Amino acid sequence: MAKYRIAWMPGDGIGQDVMEAARIVLDQLKLDAEYPLADIGWEFWRREGDALPPRTIDLLHTCQCAMFGAITSKPREEAAAELNPELRGKGLTYRSPIVRLRQQFDLYVNLRPCKAYPGNPLNHREGIDLVVFRENTEDLYAGVEFHPLPPDVRAALEARSPAMKAFQSSASEDLALSCRILSRRGCRRIVRAAFEYAQKRGYKSVTLVEKPNVVRETSGLITREARKIAAEFPAVPLWEANVDAMTMWLIKNPLEYGVLVTTNMFGDIISDLAAQLVGGLGFASSGNIGDGFAVFEPTHGSAPKYAGQYKVNPIATFLAAKLMLEWLGETEKAEVLEKAVAAVIKAGRARTYDMGGASTTIDVARAVAERL
Ligand code: NAI
Ligand code: MG
Repeated sequence: MAKYRIAWMPGDGIGQDVMEAARIVLDQLKLDAEYPLADIGWEFWRREGDALPPRTIDLLHTCQCAMFGAITSKPREEAAAELNPELRGKGLTYRSPIVRLRQQFDLYVNLRPCKAYPGNPLNHREGIDLVVFRENTEDLYAGVEFHPLPPDVRAALEARSPAMKAFQSSASEDLALSCRILSRRGCRRIVRAAFEYAQKRGYKSVTLVEKPNVVRETSGLITREARKIAAEFPAVPLWEANVDAMTMWLIKNPLEYGVLVTTNMFGDIISDLAAQLVGGLGFASSGNIGDGFAVFEPTHGSAPKYAGQYKVNPIATFLAAKLMLEWLGETEKAEVLEKAVAAVIKAGRARTYDMGGASTTIDVARAVAERL
């Protein structure tokens, strides 16, 4: 039996292309692993009414972790219209399988490293090395949402908050509510993960990116908890920045920052910005990490217009595989992989279209494999 069992979830569109490339690289690394294929994505929604079938969950429970490509998702009406006719009108609703995985396996850390590899023509600046810790299960993404606003919810809010006066002239059908809920536990564990990472890898600071001057209760909670946790890590200073200002600072002075930690929504935005500083979607990898399970993925979507054309950049997926190797404790293989990727970027011979080249996804995989 192999040492590792890694669920293999290519998903839709270019998810298939980049995951094929990742296998070339992992096979060359001779990781002692088996990769059982797991069903996920739009095709399974259309055919079965479930983008994350129960058999996939069962399979994941037999694995240490998973590699995931990308999925297609569409708005509610379109999702309903594309459903297999036999399944229509049964009250099935499409829910993002990746969000479901994060919640079901309590993958509370979304780790998104953004490093400028030397010689990448897409770098905003050489030397950038940012690592975003985005809380992955709470906040506006927890799914506590209403439209129209139910009368009892409305009445409770009006009784509790004078600020509700601003909406009194609107009918309930004309009001939508998405709740930003944070828990103390959720705040503490994401901040702790960020500090542990910064300390272990020698980052010079952890910056909490929030908005406590305006969103007082939720941003206030994480700010207070972050200060308490920071006291346990005297060698790593806690900096605090407002999320809006941070978008400017990251473009102006990206080298000043190291680890960034924030909540789900702000983290979604800040991590995309940070990714663009180091080459964009072709370079952005992420780990969805819990205490006992993790899913590693490139952060891009299924890019349907490129599906099956082997045109897109697989480097984000290779970097996701590197995160996976680190998480598994295969530090040496992780380093070897990262060095090979960096060497291919620097050499500049195998480059996909986004880097100004004409190489295929598989060409880049072979170039990396050759250096392993
Ligand atoms: P996308 O990330 O799929 O693609 C946007 C554009 O970015 C592409 O058209 C392409 O020009 C470029 N791009 C993406 N990945 C690239 C790569 N590896 N190399 C080079 N260029 C790359 O985002 P889009 O078009 O907004 O969404 C397409 C579908 O993907 C939608 O159904 C969306 O819901 C889904 N999606 C899924 C995600 C996931 O699986 N985690 C994340 C984001 C979107
Ligand atoms: Mg995003």
